[in-house]
Amino acid sequence: AACVDLTDILAGMRRGVAFTGAGISTECGIPDFRSPGGLWTRNRPIDFEAFLTSREMRNEAWRRRFAMEVAFGGATPGRGHRALARLLEEGRLAGIVTQNIDGLHQASGVPDDRLVELHGNSTYATCLDCGERYELGWVRERFEARAQTAPDCLDCGGPIKTATVSFGQPMPGEAMTRAGELTAACDVFLAIGSSLVVWPAAGFPVQAKRNGARLVIINREPTEFDDMADLVIHADIGDVFEAATTS
Ligand code: OAD
Ligand code: ZN
Repeated sequence: AACVDLTDILAGMRRGVAFTGAGISTECGIPDFRSPGGLWTRNRPIDFEAFLTSREMRNEAWRRRFAMEVAFGGATPGRGHRALARLLEEGRLAGIVTQNIDGLHQASGVPDDRLVELHGNSTYATCLDCGERYELGWVRERFEARAQTAPDCLDCGGPIKTATVSFGQPMPGEAMTRAGELTAACDVFLAIGSSLVVWPAAGFPVQAKRNGARLVIINREPTEFDDMADLVIHADIGDVFEAATTS
């Protein structure tokens, strides 16, 4: 019955926003953060301060990133990504706001001007001091050539980090602004595959609801905001979209 409701909501949606978390990418083989086996159940996150102040932490961060690349570098978009790309193409979604850093929304064909990456992107790196961009392959070569030591910026000597937002690192201002604008203007807000515990990102569903949008939460587990939602579906994201968009 839940899927019938979702089908109706999607059919009436005119300027929706999809807000995605790691749960949309688990069927692509990429683990989420907080489920059993999730990244933060295996490794403590390296916060921004530790990255900046410790060469050993920078080395460790890059070791983890390259291990991810070996394990999940070839991941391709799943059913959730593809369904959202289609809804965007049909003009039902105004945009996608993602907490994910895996690049799979882009890979599903979503153009940059319709995608907001709140936590950045792990598929390339930048110098934290001057902003120079570095490709992962370049970083990896240097890293391996110097006994797994993280390289510094060629231009200014600053630390090179994946273009992601770590705990303690300022949120990207433009992404926050664009996400706020999309959220303020949406008629339906779809929160998909996120535990909704990380702020400020988790504030967007609340803001959407306050602005009068319908709030839909699709997640395997309950979230703190389920009570506030107009529709809650505790099921597998790929299954939900397959059922809702083919019926
Ligand atoms: P979490 O790991 O906190 O939550 C993912 C949610 O998706 C969990 O509640 C799972 O139950 C659910 N889930 C997993 N696979 C699913 C599936 N196939 N179908 C339905 N539900 C599924 O991940 P996020 O909420 O994305 O930030 O985490 C938020 C932020 O915390 C991340 O962006 C990351 C992390 O620290 C940074 O790295 C800055
Ligand atoms: Zn630099």
